Amino acid sequence: MSRQTQAVIHADALIHNFEVISALTPASKIMAVIKADAYGHGAVNVAKILQGRCQCYAVAISEEALILREAGIQEPIVIFEGAHQKYECEEAARLNCTLVAHNQQQLEWLMQTPASQRPPVWFKIDTGMHRLGFDVADVDTIMTTYAELVTAHSVLVTHLASADDLSNAFTQQQLNTFTALQQRFPLHSSIANSPATLGWPGARGTWNRIGMGLFGGGPLPQNEELPELLPAMTLQASVMSLRTIACGESVGYGQAWVASRKSVIATVSIGYADGYPRHCPNGTPTFVRGKRAPLVGRVSMDMLTIDVTDIADVELGDVVELWGRQVSITEVAELAGTISYELMTRLSTRVPRLIAK
Ligand SMILES: Cc1ncc(COP(=O)(O)O)c(C=O)c1O
Repeated sequence: MSRQTQAVIHADALIHNFEVISALTPASKIMAVIKADAYGHGAVNVAKILQGRCQCYAVAISEEALILREAGIQEPIVIFEGAHQKYECEEAARLNCTLVAHNQQQLEWLMQTPASQRPPVWFKIDTGMHRLGFDVADVDTIMTTYAELVTAHSVLVTHLASADDLSNAFTQQQLNTFTALQQRFPLHSSIANSPATLGWPGARGTWNRIGMGLFGGGPLPQNEELPELLPAMTLQASVMSLRTIACGESVGYGQAWVASRKSVIATVSIGYADGYPRHCPNGTPTFVRGKRAPLVGRVSMDMLTIDVTDIADVELGDVVELWGRQVSITEVAELAGTISYELMTRLSTRVPRLIAK
C-alpha cells in the first residue's frame, strides 16, 4: 500500500454492537443487514467477523448473496428485493437464500418454479411506507391465491418510514396496521430496522433487521438501557504536505478559505474520489495528534486541506482521522447535508479496508 489512506474495520466493535443489541432483544433473532457491501465495511469481512454469532444475513439483491456464497459464507441469506428476474427464484433455492416477495409478478414466478426448486418466501406488506409491498387490502387474496408458497417458515415483513423519529405517531399507526394483519395471519414477523429495534420495542418481531446498529453510526435513538454502540469504521489518511501561509492567503480550488492569521496548512491524502464528501464545509472536524483540526478550503478529488496552526509538531505522515472514534460520522454527515448511511456506502473501492482484531 503506497498512501496511508484506509478504512479500519473494528471487529471488536461489530461484535460488541451485535451482542448489545442481542441482549436487548432476547425474544427476537438478529438478521445482519450487509447489503451495499455491508455499508462499505465489506460484506464478506463482516459476515466472517460475525460467524458463529449471527444466524442470518440480509442483502438487497441476489448478486450480493452470490458474493457471500463464493466467499464460503453458509448461513441463510434473505434477499430484500426478491427476484428481479424469474431465474433468480431457482437460483435463490440453490444458494440457500430466502426471497422477499413484494409484488404479484414475483409470486407468479415462484409458482412457476418447481416446488422442489423453490426458495422460502417472505411476504412484504406495505403498511404506509409506500415503497414496496402488498397493499393491506390485498393480503387476504394473496394468501389464498398463493397459499402454496406459505410455509411454517414464512414471515410477514413490513418497513417503517420514520422509526428514527421517536416523536412521530406514524410509526405506531404502521404497527397497529401490522398487528391487525398478524391477528388474521399468524406468521412470523419482521418489522424493525435498527432505529425501530432500539427505539420502538413494539416493533421487535421474530427477526429484527439490523444494519446501522451493527456499524455504530447514527442517527439512532439511544435509550437508557442500551450501552453505547461503537463505530465499526475509522476512516483515516495521512499528512502528505505541510506549508505555512500568510494572513490573507487562500487555500485550494476557488480560494474558498482565506487565512485570517498566519496559518499552518496540512494536505491530507484523501478526497471526494475516495468518498469523502465534497460538500463538507470549512470547519468540518478531522482529528490529528490528539486534537481536532478543521477542514479548510474545498475538498479536491484526491486531497483535502486542514488547518493545524494550533496543533504542535504536526509532521509528514501523521495519521488524520476523518471519521471514527474521535470524529463522529454523524457530525460529518450533518455538515455535508446527508446521513451516515450515505457516507459509509459511498466510500470508494480505492480505500483499502483493513480489519483490526
Ligand atoms: C427493508 C430494510 N430493512 C432493514 C434495513 C436496515 O436498516 P438499518 O441500517 O437502519 O438497520 C434496511 C436498510 O436500508 C432496509 O432497506
